[in-house]
Amino acid sequence: MSQAQPQSKKALTLLGIETSCDETAAAVVRRHADGSGDILSNQILSQVEDHAPYGGVVPELAARAHIRHLDGLVRGALSDANLTFDDIDGIAVTSGPGLIGGVIVGLLEAKGMALAAQCPLIAVNHLEGHALTARLTDGISFPYLLLLVSGGHSQLLLVEGLGRYEKLGGTIDDAVGEAFDKTAKLMGLGFPGGPALEQTAKSGDATRYTLPHPMKGREGYDLSFSGLKTAVRTHLVKELAANGHLSDQVKADMAAAFQETVGNVLANRIGKAMEHVKDRLGATPQLVVAGGVAANQALRARLNTLTEELGYTLIVPPPKLCTDNAVMIAWAGAERLHAGQQDPLNTAPRARWPLADLTL
Ligand code: KG4
Ligand code: ZN
Repeated sequence: MSQAQPQSKKALTLLGIETSCDETAAAVVRRHADGSGDILSNQILSQVEDHAPYGGVVPELAARAHIRHLDGLVRGALSDANLTFDDIDGIAVTSGPGLIGGVIVGLLEAKGMALAAQCPLIAVNHLEGHALTARLTDGISFPYLLLLVSGGHSQLLLVEGLGRYEKLGGTIDDAVGEAFDKTAKLMGLGFPGGPALEQTAKSGDATRYTLPHPMKGREGYDLSFSGLKTAVRTHLVKELAANGHLSDQVKADMAAAFQETVGNVLANRIGKAMEHVKDRLGATPQLVVAGGVAANQALRARLNTLTEELGYTLIVPPPKLCTDNAVMIAWAGAERLHAGQQDPLNTAPRARWPLADLTL
Protein backbone atom coordinates (compact mmCIF):
# COMPACT_ATOMS: atom_id res chain seq x y z
CA MET A 1 0.00 0.00 0.00
CA SER A 2 1.33 3.45 -0.78
CA GLN A 3 0.12 6.60 0.87
CA ALA A 4 -0.64 9.54 -1.40
CA GLN A 5 -2.08 12.83 -0.25
CA PRO A 6 -5.70 12.58 0.92
CA GLN A 7 -7.91 13.70 -1.98
CA SER A 8 -10.36 15.72 0.04
CA LYS A 9 -11.53 18.28 -2.48
CA LYS A 10 -13.06 16.44 -5.37
CA ALA A 11 -15.66 13.76 -6.02
CA LEU A 12 -14.18 10.34 -6.72
CA THR A 13 -15.69 7.84 -9.17
CA LEU A 14 -14.66 4.25 -8.61
CA LEU A 15 -15.14 1.07 -10.60
CA GLY A 16 -15.49 -1.88 -8.21
CA ILE A 17 -14.89 -5.57 -8.93
CA GLU A 18 -16.02 -8.53 -6.77
CA THR A 19 -15.13 -12.16 -7.52
CA SER A 20 -14.26 -13.70 -4.14
CA CYS A 21 -17.08 -16.25 -3.97
CA ASP A 22 -19.91 -17.21 -6.35
CA GLU A 23 -21.07 -13.78 -7.46
CA THR A 24 -19.32 -12.02 -10.33
CA ALA A 25 -19.94 -8.31 -9.94
CA ALA A 26 -18.90 -4.90 -11.24
CA ALA A 27 -20.26 -1.51 -10.17
CA VAL A 28 -19.57 2.20 -10.36
CA VAL A 29 -19.93 4.39 -7.27
CA ARG A 30 -19.26 8.08 -6.76
CA ARG A 31 -18.10 9.50 -3.45
CA HIS A 32 -18.78 13.20 -3.15
CA ALA A 33 -16.46 15.61 -1.37
CA ASP A 34 -18.91 15.82 1.58
CA GLY A 35 -18.60 12.06 2.17
CA SER A 36 -21.96 11.09 0.70
CA GLY A 37 -22.16 8.64 -2.17
CA ASP A 38 -24.19 7.59 -5.20
CA ILE A 39 -24.49 4.21 -6.86
CA LEU A 40 -24.14 4.83 -10.60
CA SER A 41 -24.42 1.18 -11.65
CA ASN A 42 -24.58 -2.25 -10.06
CA GLN A 43 -24.05 -5.32 -12.24
CA ILE A 44 -24.14 -8.72 -10.64
CA LEU A 45 -24.28 -12.25 -11.95
CA SER A 46 -25.03 -15.01 -9.49
CA GLN A 47 -23.58 -18.45 -10.20
CA VAL A 48 -26.10 -20.13 -7.91
CA GLU A 49 -27.42 -22.38 -10.68
CA ASP A 50 -23.89 -23.56 -11.59
CA HIS A 51 -23.24 -24.70 -8.02
CA ALA A 52 -26.71 -25.89 -6.97
CA PRO A 53 -26.22 -29.47 -8.27
CA TYR A 54 -23.21 -29.81 -5.94
CA GLY A 55 -24.98 -28.39 -2.86
CA GLY A 56 -22.24 -25.79 -2.34
CA VAL A 57 -19.80 -23.52 -4.13
CA VAL A 58 -17.19 -25.42 -6.21
CA PRO A 59 -14.11 -23.12 -6.25
CA GLU A 60 -12.79 -24.27 -9.65
CA LEU A 61 -16.18 -23.74 -11.32
CA ALA A 62 -16.52 -20.35 -9.66
CA ALA A 63 -13.13 -19.15 -10.93
CA ARG A 64 -13.88 -20.28 -14.49
CA ALA A 65 -17.28 -18.55 -14.45
CA HIS A 66 -15.67 -15.30 -13.22
CA ILE A 67 -13.29 -15.47 -16.21
CA ARG A 68 -16.24 -15.93 -18.60
CA HIS A 69 -18.41 -13.13 -17.25
CA LEU A 70 -16.26 -10.40 -15.70
CA ASP A 71 -15.41 -8.50 -18.93
CA GLY A 72 -19.07 -8.23 -19.90
CA LEU A 73 -20.11 -7.07 -16.43
CA VAL A 74 -17.43 -4.35 -16.37
CA ARG A 75 -18.60 -3.12 -19.78
CA GLY A 76 -22.20 -3.20 -18.52
CA ALA A 77 -21.35 -1.32 -15.32
CA LEU A 78 -19.59 1.47 -17.26
CA SER A 79 -22.34 1.70 -19.85
CA ASP A 80 -25.15 1.75 -17.20
CA ALA A 81 -23.29 4.63 -15.55
CA ASN A 82 -22.86 6.37 -18.94
CA LEU A 83 -19.13 6.56 -18.33
CA THR A 84 -15.88 5.42 -19.94
CA PHE A 85 -12.54 4.59 -18.31
CA ASP A 86 -11.57 8.25 -18.79
CA ASP A 87 -14.15 9.16 -16.11
CA ILE A 88 -12.88 6.62 -13.57
CA ASP A 89 -10.62 7.85 -10.73
CA GLY A 90 -9.71 4.41 -9.41
CA ILE A 91 -10.31 0.68 -9.72
CA ALA A 92 -11.22 -1.07 -6.48
CA VAL A 93 -11.02 -4.84 -6.37
CA THR A 94 -11.58 -7.53 -3.76
CA SER A 95 -8.10 -8.83 -3.00
CA GLY A 96 -9.22 -11.23 -0.26
CA PRO A 97 -10.34 -12.96 1.81
CA GLY A 98 -12.13 -15.52 -0.33
CA LEU A 99 -11.77 -18.44 -2.74
CA ILE A 100 -8.30 -17.82 -4.10
CA GLY A 101 -9.01 -18.72 -7.75
CA GLY A 102 -11.79 -16.15 -7.96
CA VAL A 103 -9.78 -13.49 -6.12
CA ILE A 104 -6.91 -13.99 -8.59
CA VAL A 105 -9.27 -13.57 -11.58
CA GLY A 106 -10.64 -10.28 -10.26
CA LEU A 107 -7.31 -8.90 -9.12
CA LEU A 108 -5.56 -9.66 -12.44
CA GLU A 109 -8.36 -8.07 -14.43
CA ALA A 110 -8.31 -4.99 -12.20
CA LYS A 111 -4.54 -4.67 -12.51
CA GLY A 112 -4.78 -4.86 -16.30
CA MET A 113 -7.47 -2.19 -16.37
CA ALA A 114 -5.61 0.08 -13.93
CA LEU A 115 -2.49 -0.19 -16.07
CA ALA A 116 -4.31 0.44 -19.35
CA ALA A 117 -6.45 3.27 -17.96
CA GLN A 118 -3.51 4.75 -16.00
CA CYS A 119 -5.55 5.05 -12.82
CA PRO A 120 -4.97 3.94 -9.22
CA LEU A 121 -5.59 0.37 -8.08
CA ILE A 122 -7.15 -0.02 -4.63
CA ALA A 123 -6.94 -3.51 -3.08
CA VAL A 124 -10.07 -3.92 -0.95
CA ASN A 125 -10.73 -6.38 1.85
CA HIS A 126 -14.10 -8.05 1.12
CA LEU A 127 -15.15 -7.87 4.77
CA GLU A 128 -14.34 -4.17 4.90
CA GLY A 129 -16.65 -3.80 1.90
CA HIS A 130 -19.50 -5.32 3.95
CA ALA A 131 -18.48 -3.28 7.00
CA LEU A 132 -18.57 0.12 5.26
CA THR A 133 -21.73 -0.34 3.14
CA ALA A 134 -23.93 1.38 5.73
CA ARG A 135 -21.83 4.53 5.37
CA LEU A 136 -22.87 4.68 1.72
CA THR A 137 -26.52 3.68 2.21
CA ASP A 138 -27.21 5.50 5.48
CA GLY A 139 -24.39 8.03 5.75
CA ILE A 140 -23.48 6.94 9.26
CA SER A 141 -20.32 8.08 10.99
CA PHE A 142 -17.77 6.20 13.10
CA PRO A 143 -17.78 4.57 15.61
CA TYR A 144 -20.42 1.86 15.34
CA LEU A 145 -20.99 -1.70 16.43
CA LEU A 146 -21.00 -4.14 13.52
CA LEU A 147 -22.51 -7.61 13.33
CA LEU A 148 -20.97 -9.17 10.23
CA VAL A 149 -22.86 -12.33 9.33
CA SER A 150 -22.15 -14.09 6.04
CA GLY A 151 -21.51 -17.58 4.71
CA GLY A 152 -17.91 -17.58 5.87
CA HIS A 153 -17.85 -15.07 8.72
CA SER A 154 -19.70 -14.26 11.93
CA GLN A 155 -18.12 -11.50 13.94
CA LEU A 156 -19.03 -8.71 16.30
CA LEU A 157 -16.77 -5.74 15.75
CA LEU A 158 -16.32 -2.23 16.98
CA VAL A 159 -15.69 -0.10 13.89
CA GLU A 160 -13.70 2.85 15.13
CA GLY A 161 -12.64 4.28 11.78
CA LEU A 162 -11.52 3.35 8.29
CA GLY A 163 -9.15 0.38 8.72
CA ARG A 164 -9.73 0.32 12.48
CA TYR A 165 -11.71 -2.76 13.48
CA GLU A 166 -11.68 -4.29 16.94
CA LYS A 167 -13.05 -7.82 17.06
CA LEU A 168 -15.18 -8.26 20.17
CA GLY A 169 -16.27 -11.81 19.39
CA GLY A 170 -16.68 -14.36 16.65
CA THR A 171 -18.00 -17.82 15.99
CA ILE A 172 -16.07 -20.68 17.52
CA ASP A 173 -17.40 -23.12 14.89
CA ASP A 174 -19.86 -22.50 12.03
CA ALA A 175 -20.59 -19.06 10.59
CA VAL A 176 -24.28 -18.07 10.79
CA GLY A 177 -24.80 -18.34 7.02
CA GLU A 178 -23.04 -21.70 7.05
CA ALA A 179 -25.38 -22.89 9.84
CA PHE A 180 -28.39 -21.80 7.75
CA ASP A 181 -26.96 -23.55 4.68
CA LYS A 182 -26.15 -26.80 6.52
CA THR A 183 -29.49 -26.89 8.35
CA ALA A 184 -31.36 -26.26 5.11
CA LYS A 185 -29.41 -29.10 3.51
CA LEU A 186 -30.45 -31.47 6.34
CA MET A 187 -34.06 -30.70 5.45
CA GLY A 188 -33.49 -30.98 1.70
CA LEU A 189 -34.34 -27.32 1.11
CA GLY A 190 -31.79 -26.73 -1.64
CA PHE A 191 -28.95 -24.29 -2.13
CA PRO A 192 -28.32 -21.58 -1.06
CA GLY A 193 -29.94 -22.61 2.17
CA GLY A 194 -30.40 -19.27 3.92
CA PRO A 195 -33.14 -17.77 1.72
CA ALA A 196 -34.79 -21.21 1.30
CA LEU A 197 -34.90 -21.74 5.06
CA GLU A 198 -36.33 -18.27 5.66
CA GLN A 199 -39.06 -18.92 3.10
CA THR A 200 -39.90 -22.33 4.62
CA ALA A 201 -40.04 -20.89 8.14
CA LYS A 202 -42.83 -18.49 7.16
CA SER A 203 -45.48 -21.20 7.51
CA GLY A 204 -43.88 -22.79 10.57
CA ASP A 205 -44.61 -22.88 14.31
CA ALA A 206 -41.37 -22.05 16.15
CA THR A 207 -42.66 -23.52 19.43
CA ARG A 208 -43.01 -27.11 18.18
CA TYR A 209 -39.33 -27.97 18.71
CA THR A 210 -37.10 -26.90 21.57
CA LEU A 211 -33.54 -26.24 20.48
CA PRO A 212 -30.48 -25.49 22.64
CA HIS A 213 -29.24 -21.93 23.06
CA PRO A 214 -25.44 -22.19 22.56
CA MET A 215 -23.19 -19.91 24.66
CA LYS A 216 -26.08 -18.51 26.74
CA GLY A 217 -24.74 -17.17 30.02
CA ARG A 218 -21.10 -17.47 28.89
CA GLU A 219 -18.69 -14.60 29.32
CA GLY A 220 -17.61 -12.62 26.26
CA TYR A 221 -19.22 -12.18 22.89
CA ASP A 222 -18.34 -15.36 21.02
CA LEU A 223 -20.95 -17.29 19.05
CA SER A 224 -21.47 -20.99 18.36
CA PHE A 225 -23.88 -22.73 16.00
CA SER A 226 -22.74 -26.29 15.41
CA GLY A 227 -24.63 -27.64 18.48
CA LEU A 228 -27.81 -26.10 17.13
CA LYS A 229 -27.36 -27.84 13.80
CA THR A 230 -26.72 -31.17 15.60
CA ALA A 231 -29.92 -30.72 17.65
CA VAL A 232 -31.87 -30.13 14.43
CA ARG A 233 -30.41 -33.32 12.96
CA THR A 234 -31.41 -35.32 16.07
CA HIS A 235 -35.03 -34.08 15.83
CA LEU A 236 -35.16 -34.84 12.11
CA VAL A 237 -33.78 -38.35 12.57
CA LYS A 238 -36.55 -39.00 15.14
CA GLU A 239 -39.20 -37.65 12.76
CA LEU A 240 -37.87 -39.84 9.96
CA ALA A 241 -37.83 -42.92 12.20
CA ALA A 242 -41.42 -42.24 13.30
CA ASN A 243 -42.98 -41.26 9.96
CA GLY A 244 -40.61 -42.41 7.21
CA HIS A 245 -40.44 -38.93 5.71
CA LEU A 246 -40.21 -35.25 6.63
CA SER A 247 -43.55 -33.56 6.02
CA ASP A 248 -43.71 -29.97 4.79
CA GLN A 249 -45.09 -28.97 8.19
CA VAL A 250 -42.20 -30.62 10.05
CA LYS A 251 -39.74 -28.75 7.80
CA ALA A 252 -41.56 -25.47 8.29
CA ASP A 253 -41.75 -25.86 12.08
CA MET A 254 -38.10 -26.88 12.31
CA ALA A 255 -37.00 -23.99 10.06
CA ALA A 256 -39.02 -21.56 12.23
CA ALA A 257 -37.53 -22.98 15.46
CA PHE A 258 -34.00 -22.81 14.05
CA GLN A 259 -34.39 -19.26 12.78
CA GLU A 260 -35.92 -18.06 16.04
CA THR A 261 -33.13 -19.67 18.07
CA VAL A 262 -30.45 -18.06 15.88
CA GLY A 263 -32.21 -14.73 16.45
CA ASN A 264 -32.18 -15.28 20.21
CA VAL A 265 -28.51 -16.32 20.24
CA LEU A 266 -27.51 -13.23 18.26
CA ALA A 267 -29.69 -10.92 20.33
CA ASN A 268 -28.19 -12.24 23.56
CA ARG A 269 -24.57 -11.71 22.44
CA ILE A 270 -25.21 -8.38 20.75
CA GLY A 271 -27.12 -7.08 23.76
CA LYS A 272 -24.10 -7.78 25.96
CA ALA A 273 -21.68 -6.26 23.44
CA MET A 274 -23.83 -3.14 23.15
CA GLU A 275 -23.74 -2.56 26.90
CA HIS A 276 -19.95 -3.03 26.88
CA VAL A 277 -19.45 -0.60 24.00
CA LYS A 278 -21.78 1.93 25.59
CA ASP A 279 -19.79 1.83 28.84
CA ARG A 280 -16.54 2.16 26.95
CA LEU A 281 -17.52 4.98 24.63
CA GLY A 282 -19.82 6.74 27.08
CA ALA A 283 -22.41 7.02 24.31
CA THR A 284 -24.90 4.80 22.52
CA PRO A 285 -23.50 3.89 19.11
CA GLN A 286 -25.51 2.53 16.20
CA LEU A 287 -25.70 -1.16 15.40
CA VAL A 288 -25.01 -2.08 11.79
CA VAL A 289 -25.77 -5.56 10.48
CA ALA A 290 -23.95 -6.56 7.30
CA GLY A 291 -23.26 -9.67 5.22
CA GLY A 292 -25.57 -12.07 3.39
CA VAL A 293 -27.50 -13.20 6.48
CA ALA A 294 -28.57 -9.59 7.08
CA ALA A 295 -30.97 -10.14 4.16
CA ASN A 296 -33.11 -12.28 6.54
CA GLN A 297 -36.25 -10.29 7.43
CA ALA A 298 -37.09 -12.32 10.56
CA LEU A 299 -33.62 -11.74 12.02
CA ARG A 300 -33.85 -8.05 11.15
CA ALA A 301 -37.16 -7.85 13.03
CA ARG A 302 -35.63 -9.61 16.06
CA LEU A 303 -32.65 -7.24 16.15
CA ASN A 304 -34.91 -4.27 15.62
CA THR A 305 -36.82 -5.17 18.78
CA LEU A 306 -33.55 -5.57 20.68
CA THR A 307 -32.15 -2.21 19.59
CA GLU A 308 -35.43 -0.44 20.33
CA GLU A 309 -35.45 -1.92 23.84
CA LEU A 310 -31.85 -0.80 24.46
CA GLY A 311 -32.20 2.63 22.86
CA TYR A 312 -29.91 1.95 19.90
CA THR A 313 -30.54 2.53 16.20
CA LEU A 314 -30.41 -0.50 13.93
CA ILE A 315 -29.05 0.02 10.45
CA VAL A 316 -29.30 -2.71 7.84
CA PRO A 317 -28.49 -1.94 4.20
CA PRO A 318 -31.00 -3.09 1.55
CA PRO A 319 -30.86 -6.89 0.97
CA LYS A 320 -29.11 -6.70 -2.41
CA LEU A 321 -26.32 -4.68 -0.82
CA CYS A 322 -26.07 -7.14 2.11
CA THR A 323 -25.23 -10.14 -0.06
CA ASP A 324 -22.02 -10.02 -2.09
CA ASN A 325 -21.87 -7.18 -4.61
CA ALA A 326 -19.37 -4.81 -6.20
CA VAL A 327 -20.99 -1.60 -4.95
CA MET A 328 -19.54 -2.25 -1.50
CA ILE A 329 -16.08 -2.83 -3.00
CA ALA A 330 -16.23 0.36 -5.08
CA TRP A 331 -17.38 2.29 -2.01
CA ALA A 332 -14.65 0.91 0.28
CA GLY A 333 -12.19 1.74 -2.52
CA ALA A 334 -13.54 5.28 -2.70
CA GLU A 335 -13.17 5.75 1.05
CA ARG A 336 -9.60 4.47 0.89
CA LEU A 337 -8.62 6.42 -2.22
CA HIS A 338 -10.04 9.52 -0.56
CA ALA A 339 -7.84 8.78 2.46
CA GLY A 340 -4.80 8.50 0.19
CA GLN A 341 -4.44 4.77 -0.46
CA GLN A 342 -3.20 3.35 -3.74
CA ASP A 343 -1.83 -0.15 -4.16
CA PRO A 344 1.01 -1.35 -6.39
CA LEU A 345 0.45 -3.60 -9.40
CA ASN A 346 2.28 -6.45 -7.65
CA THR A 347 -0.33 -6.60 -4.85
CA ALA A 348 -0.86 -10.24 -3.86
CA PRO A 349 -4.27 -11.96 -3.57
CA ARG A 350 -5.06 -13.32 -0.11
CA ALA A 351 -7.23 -16.29 0.82
CA ARG A 352 -7.12 -15.21 4.47
CA TRP A 353 -7.18 -11.56 5.52
CA PRO A 354 -8.73 -10.80 8.94
CA LEU A 355 -10.29 -7.36 9.39
CA ALA A 356 -8.26 -6.88 12.54
CA ASP A 357 -5.08 -6.94 10.37
CA LEU A 358 -6.19 -3.89 8.40
CA THR A 359 -4.66 -0.48 8.75
CA LEU A 360 -4.98 2.58 6.66
O1 KG4 B 1 -22.16 -12.20 2.24
P1 KG4 B 1 -22.57 -13.35 1.38
O2 KG4 B 1 -23.37 -13.04 0.13
O3 KG4 B 1 -21.34 -14.21 0.92
C1 KG4 B 1 -20.26 -14.49 1.78
O4 KG4 B 1 -19.33 -13.66 1.79
O5 KG4 B 1 -20.37 -15.51 2.49
O6 KG4 B 1 -23.39 -14.35 2.32
C2 KG4 B 1 -23.91 -15.56 1.83
C3 KG4 B 1 -24.56 -16.27 3.01
C4 KG4 B 1 -25.02 -17.69 2.66
O7 KG4 B 1 -24.65 -18.55 3.72
C5 KG4 B 1 -26.53 -17.55 2.56
O8 KG4 B 1 -27.25 -18.73 2.86
C6 KG4 B 1 -26.79 -16.46 3.59
O9 KG4 B 1 -25.73 -15.54 3.42
N1 KG4 B 1 -28.08 -15.81 3.36
C7 KG4 B 1 -29.12 -15.89 4.21
C8 KG4 B 1 -30.19 -15.21 3.59
N2 KG4 B 1 -29.76 -14.72 2.39
C9 KG4 B 1 -28.45 -15.10 2.26
N3 KG4 B 1 -29.21 -16.49 5.41
C10 KG4 B 1 -30.41 -16.40 6.03
N4 KG4 B 1 -31.51 -15.79 5.49
C11 KG4 B 1 -31.44 -15.18 4.29
N5 KG4 B 1 -32.51 -14.57 3.77
ZN1 ZN C 1 -19.57 -11.53 1.59
